[in-house]
Amino acid sequence: MAAAAAPTADGNISCGADIAGLQDRPAKLQEMPEFQKKTVHIKDPAKVEEIICGLIKGGAARLQIITDFDMTLSRFSHNGKRCPTCHNVIDNCKYVSDECRKKLYELKDKYYAIEIDPDLTIKEKYPYMIEWYTKSHTLLIEQAIQKDKLTEVVRESDIMLKEGYETFFDKLHEHSIPVFIFSAGLGDVLEEAIRQSGVYFPNIKVISNFMDFDENGVIKGFKGELIHVYNKHDGALKRTEYFNQLKDSSNIILLGDSLGDLTMADGVSNVEHILKIGYLNDKVEELLEKYMNSYDIVLVKDESLDVANSILQKIL
Ligand code: TMP
Ligand code: MG
Repeated sequence: MAAAAAPTADGNISCGADIAGLQDRPAKLQEMPEFQKKTVHIKDPAKVEEIICGLIKGGAARLQIITDFDMTLSRFSHNGKRCPTCHNVIDNCKYVSDECRKKLYELKDKYYAIEIDPDLTIKEKYPYMIEWYTKSHTLLIEQAIQKDKLTEVVRESDIMLKEGYETFFDKLHEHSIPVFIFSAGLGDVLEEAIRQSGVYFPNIKVISNFMDFDENGVIKGFKGELIHVYNKHDGALKRTEYFNQLKDSSNIILLGDSLGDLTMADGVSNVEHILKIGYLNDKVEELLEKYMNSYDIVLVKDESLDVANSILQKIL
């Protein structure tokens, strides 16, 4: 059970003044400048303070990160221009024919609208997501994408990690905090993007859709079971071996941008404290309430990792 945070005489939350040093690190949101930004929306600040207190108490030894990639670790937009998802990096590249690109864009227009439709339930969206991924992945296979072109394709793309990514990954690496990147994007592109950004450290484990290449390095299919936006619950339950190795890591910071990302920690059996941070990038007006009821902290059109970094600063 989480110990209740005890208010001190000055109204601060002490976060366990019985533990040496923690008195100096109260989790009072009002005093954390990163939480004062207009992008930050919290339904229940007292609950968030209490969770952060739990995370502080557990420290590095108890912490693990479970995060989505596209539009969570990567940017949704930069200088007013949309940034690509992992899939879009391939859609836009010079090794895809114009005819195929047109088809991929048409698929994106149709199915992305369904992905974020505020009036459809996840159950209703689910079959459409399978349809999107099946069609899109079939096109990539037809284009005979080559493994040895991916470095160049990612380098020439506009994919960008969120502001503050260096601090985020460096700090987690420095303290050997396990980071589980769980993405319905393309694993090969994702790994290349974090490698080229210089932050693919050994504490990171990537679960995603990885291309399967033939002996000539040409794509022939995809490895393992498909991960789409709304089946992360099933994928998480299949990774219990990974989570069981992290038995002591019962405190979680979860980062996502889709309501489907909320199930990414479903494979963890021993959750003590979990803080869910959700980026809301699109259809803000229609989705804000839903996001605020689901995520502890909602970051609206926020292209930074500032909030996560400010919390890590207190824990580590
Ligand atoms: P994520 O789980 O890392 O966010 O990655 C999934 C995103 O990829 C999701 O928002 C849908 C997107 N996507 C494309 O942009 N193009 C595609 O062809 C497909 C199948 C998915
Ligand atoms: Mg995403």
